Amino acid sequence: MKGDRPDGTMAVMGEIHIPLADLRYAAAVPRVPALLQPPSGLLSDRLGRPLRDLRISVTDRCNFRCSYCMPKDVFDKNYTFLPQTSLLSFEEITRTANLFVAHGVNKLRLTGGEPLLRKHLEVLIAQLATLRTPDGLPLDITLTTNGSLLERKAQALHDAGLKRVTVSLDALDDSIFRRMNDVDFPVADVLRGIEAAQRVGLAPIKINMVVKRGTNDQEIVPLARHVREHCGPGVVLRFIEYMDVGASNGWCMDEVLPSADVVQRLSAVFPLEALAPGAVGETAQRWRYVDGGGEVGVISSVTQAFCHDCNRARLSTEGKLFLCLFASRGHDLRALLRDGYSDEQIAGAIGLIWGERDDRYSELRSAMAAEPGSGERRVEMHYIGG
Ligand code: GTP
Ligand code: 5AD
Ligand code: SF4
Ligand code: SF4
Repeated sequence: MKGDRPDGTMAVMGEIHIPLADLRYAAAVPRVPALLQPPSGLLSDRLGRPLRDLRISVTDRCNFRCSYCMPKDVFDKNYTFLPQTSLLSFEEITRTANLFVAHGVNKLRLTGGEPLLRKHLEVLIAQLATLRTPDGLPLDITLTTNGSLLERKAQALHDAGLKRVTVSLDALDDSIFRRMNDVDFPVADVLRGIEAAQRVGLAPIKINMVVKRGTNDQEIVPLARHVREHCGPGVVLRFIEYMDVGASNGWCMDEVLPSADVVQRLSAVFPLEALAPGAVGETAQRWRYVDGGGEVGVISSVTQAFCHDCNRARLSTEGKLFLCLFASRGHDLRALLRDGYSDEQIAGAIGLIWGERDDRYSELRSAMAAEPGSGERRVEMHYIGG
């Protein structure tokens, strides 16, 4: 649907609403510097943040319809997913990832949609596993999956060079789980996927539970108990505050259960002790069970944003570089990849883009400067799942 502005956006009560379909294709064409310098691994954005972590979306499709991410009424049979030709090929992804590694990235996470829906994903993993940092070290390669295909694929993923995996699991109770994935998918299949991942040696395994107050918050303690009793201390359960990732998920603060409450509820049953922060830019605050039952984490994306040391970039399915989860515009690296630019030129473009990265509100400010009085700018997201 086209809006009432020349560029297709719609003015509604002082807000700009940008239709999702249009935004997905919004992209700034990257500039290539005239003077090319080899990447030093020491990139820094305007706030002094390095580039260390690249999240690569390998598909925009998912077999679940979690209401907080791909609500059924938006992602229905009329929704147009990207055509195959728009997707970066495995070779394009590997080539691009290698340029990011030269700039300092040491962690690659494959996401989606549901990454295991991308055919022959293990072939991509095998390619990425050959990459080395400038110091000759292998990369931390992982993926975030809904676990539905994990039982079938765990062995091949591990054999290809995947080290660890994160599984999204929002409830242990089957009926709550089926309601949350909204495709009636049984929880037992995901639990078997986690067991398979453990069996083949993927480690550490993390489990992500997005907590929605009133929907699955009663599952916090049962899930923690299950992980302690059936998975063991090698599996880290993390509770995530439900985030507003665009207008389509109908987000409201009442449904956010602050991490502090999660910790309180857990520690009433299983006493906890705070652990020192892990790596810079880590999303989770870590706790350990006092009785030695392992570790849990809380990800406080809403009540305690962790932007100050955010060192993450995202490469979208169709090859756009996004500098923030809340960015509405990506930088079209695919255009450079497919227009015959050299590695040195593309690396130069990435360097310029990261060097100009600002805080998460910079787009909002420039939109408001371009259109004084436009009020709050609501943006749909490039973010699906990962
Ligand atoms: P680990 O290396 O295993 O710690 O991964 P991770 O926590 O960075 O990645 P994961 O895919 O497990 O993401 C977990 C949660 O962190 C997501 O549900 C988001 O809530 C949050 N998250 C991940 N990346 C970002 C980000 O760039 N910004 C914000 N605000 N939240 C993020
Ligand atoms: N809020 C918080 N986490 C979310 N995820 C997807 N959508 C949201 C949201 N609106 C989670 C998934 C997955 C992780 C990468 O992001 O459950 O575990
Ligand atoms: Fe990083 Fe943006 Fe997430 Fe903040 S909101 S942690 S800047 S991706
Ligand atoms: Fe799919 Fe993950 Fe989004 Fe759920 S949160 S719809 S499993 S991509």
